Amino acid sequence: MSIPIKIAGVSFQVPEAVVTNDDLTKIIDTSDEWIRTRTGIERRHVLSGNETAVDMGIKAAQKAIKQSKINVEDIDYIIAAASVETHAYPSTACEIQAAVGAMNAACFDITAACSGLIYGMGIARALIKSETAKTVLIVATDAVSRCLDWSDRTTCVLFGDGAGAMMLTVSDDEQDDILAVSLKAEGNLGDYIKMPIPGKNCPLVEPNEQEPMFVKMNGKEVYKYVVTKLPIYIEECVEKSGLKMEEIDYLVPHQANMRIIEALEERLKFNPENVISNIKDYANTSAASIPIALTEAIQSGKIKLPATAILTGFGAGMTVGTTVVRLREGIA
Ligand SMILES: CC(C)(COP(=O)(O)OP(=O)(O)OC[C@H]1O[C@@H](n2cnc3c(N)ncnc32)[C@H](O)[C@@H]1OP(=O)(O)O)[C@@H](O)C(=O)NCCC(=O)NCCS
Repeated sequence: MSIPIKIAGVSFQVPEAVVTNDDLTKIIDTSDEWIRTRTGIERRHVLSGNETAVDMGIKAAQKAIKQSKINVEDIDYIIAAASVETHAYPSTACEIQAAVGAMNAACFDITAACSGLIYGMGIARALIKSETAKTVLIVATDAVSRCLDWSDRTTCVLFGDGAGAMMLTVSDDEQDDILAVSLKAEGNLGDYIKMPIPGKNCPLVEPNEQEPMFVKMNGKEVYKYVVTKLPIYIEECVEKSGLKMEEIDYLVPHQANMRIIEALEERLKFNPENVISNIKDYANTSAASIPIALTEAIQSGKIKLPATAILTGFGAGMTVGTTVVRLREGIA
């Protein structure tokens, strides 16, 4: 019999500092009006001082552990979905492990950009279903503000920093909370969103210039790709789940652009009331955007539990991840 999985806790953490659209007009040629009407964004949280993505991830992890009432010793794996690191190793997951004291956990990072949480859920689900693990903590944390060219108005207005976490464990009843997962990648579209990591050849071989570590994006192509492909992938995943679209209570999409969210809502015939969006307050927080939107909507009462939901994300790669889930009371 397939092992049922429980989503035991979700959480999020954002840095304190807030930058509004008006603030941005002091450093680039833009306007609150342009940013709001093209993207839906009004403000974003950004790291300051020595804060890092790991710090946010630790706090999100601690909240998810507390919320799920899981003993840290019982966590078998920590998967960190993190694309913006201050260093390649130790992994973000290892650093979070040490801080939360989950010393029985195996730890590794994945890079699926903004689809990171859903990719993490797909891996965690496979680990639990194959009886390799009973409890897996996924932490999605990204500090995109550290990798933006703050003089490039086409990218710097779009992103913010944040972290989210989700605890998955074997269900203590028969209910399986993850009804379907669908992960896609189109590596041939890798040029759409890129973030080079600086590196140099040995100077004895050849002198070379170091490329700056800035996000570069072809916004128009990303937009076209997402509004064309994402609805198809979501419909496929819903079909796999055994539910009908009209039986699903909420749509929790990656928060990249309000116009993309509205296009999805229209195409999937979702009631706007049931489509979760908080992009105006956080901008695009990359892998953290889905857990932030989900947790905040539960905490504010916008999502009423128990409920069914589609979580769906897309990002650099290109990667796309969708899951259909049941959300129990008390998870946030
Ligand atoms: C990035 C995005 C908002 C740009 O919107 P757009 O309507 O396509 O805008 P364009 O790129 O056509 O730019 C239109 C004009 O606005 C200008 N512009 C770009 N950014 C601007 C800004 N922040 N403020 C003011 N003007 C800006 C451009 O220079 C251009 O001017 P021009 O016509 O004189 O050349 C949109 O393409 C988008 O959201 N794409 C998806 C990106 C995404 O989801 N990324 C995340 C993936 S995880």
